[in-house]
Amino acid sequence: MTNQHIKKVVLAYSGGLDTSVIICWLKETYGCEVIAYCADLGQGEELSPLTEKAKKTGASKVYISDLKEIFAADYIFPMLRANAVYEDVYLLGTAIARPLIAKRQMEIAREEGADAVSHGATGKGNDQVRFELAYLAIDPQIKIIAPWRDWQFQSRSDLIAYTAEHNIPVEATADKPYSIDRNLLHVSYEGGILEDPWTAPLESMFATTVSPEAAPDEALTIEIEYKAGNPVSIDGKTYSPAALIEKLNEIGGRHGIGRVDLVENRYVGMKSRGIYETPGGTILHAAHRAVESITLDREVLHLRDSLIPQYASMLYNGYWFSPEREMLQALMDEAQKGVTGTARLKLYKGNVTVTGRKAPQSLYRPEISTFEKDTVYVQKEAEGFIRLNALRLKLSALKKDGR
Ligand code: ARG
Repeated sequence: MTNQHIKKVVLAYSGGLDTSVIICWLKETYGCEVIAYCADLGQGEELSPLTEKAKKTGASKVYISDLKEIFAADYIFPMLRANAVYEDVYLLGTAIARPLIAKRQMEIAREEGADAVSHGATGKGNDQVRFELAYLAIDPQIKIIAPWRDWQFQSRSDLIAYTAEHNIPVEATADKPYSIDRNLLHVSYEGGILEDPWTAPLESMFATTVSPEAAPDEALTIEIEYKAGNPVSIDGKTYSPAALIEKLNEIGGRHGIGRVDLVENRYVGMKSRGIYETPGGTILHAAHRAVESITLDREVLHLRDSLIPQYASMLYNGYWFSPEREMLQALMDEAQKGVTGTARLKLYKGNVTVTGRKAPQSLYRPEISTFEKDTVYVQKEAEGFIRLNALRLKLSALKKDGR
């Protein structure tokens, strides 16, 4: 792709080693103008110094976009309404961030009249797929430059050598022996020393949670209120979507909630070992299920549940902007209209335990479910229900006996 003619590129820039090298490499390779863009998705870093830094590295202009509230309300919440979990364990914290990063990047490209976009994802991972499917879903004409798939550099030391030759400012931070991706919803760790799936994670790497062993001996009980499938308050106090997740990260982190360690299947074909911490997201999954348990019709719940793996794969594989994800989202959200109520949860040494649920329009009727005498349910009627349902079982038993 390096023989293309490119005038102006918008780069998804983080201020780290790779994307710093990319600014310089793009200019050198294409003789083009490079605009650096960094999305604030709650990665917990001060991003304002990046403006200076990107300019020193050679960017003609720098955009820092605070997308935290949009990320929470329009990406994380819809995903949580659908209870999305990939391969039973991964809460998709990285996957859900990519489409939003790409969307804002494409807006900047349009405003700036840029003809190309670029990112620092490698040629082996899911992130390249997620970014580029989103770019192309938004503008089929956009040119995409993925330096990791094109350039000659193979390793971090190649990049460091290049920064020295080109006077690129990089901090002399010690290289972490694994790769980290952090945002409002989670922190992920993979690669390096974690590549051996038998090697346990280091306690020192976790950024937002204490270990369950180090969590307080006292349990904490909290209440989360939902309106139409979205969490709106904690212990009666209302929060904006991003503030609510931040608050639950802080509470959950203190109680050691939401660490997972798994081997997952990447879209590009290989297996990959990942460690994640998703304290707030883990609490919200449990709370949402609890409110759904008394507000969703049985068949709606079961049918919806059967679609979660497919919805989760769409997100994992990068199809946020796709007709199939939008179709499933409409179905998921239709089911959420009545999911209004409150869950009570106990947080204790890495566990979230539901201890209560209530809803103004609850479908749970104690007067019907009771073991005591009731006036509505006629026990005698259960006999015919069972007999008719047993008919085909009886027929196949008779057949087996040769009767
Ligand atoms: N394996 C996870 C995913 O595909 C996390 C990826 C983390 N990304 C990163 N650049 N370190 O969603």
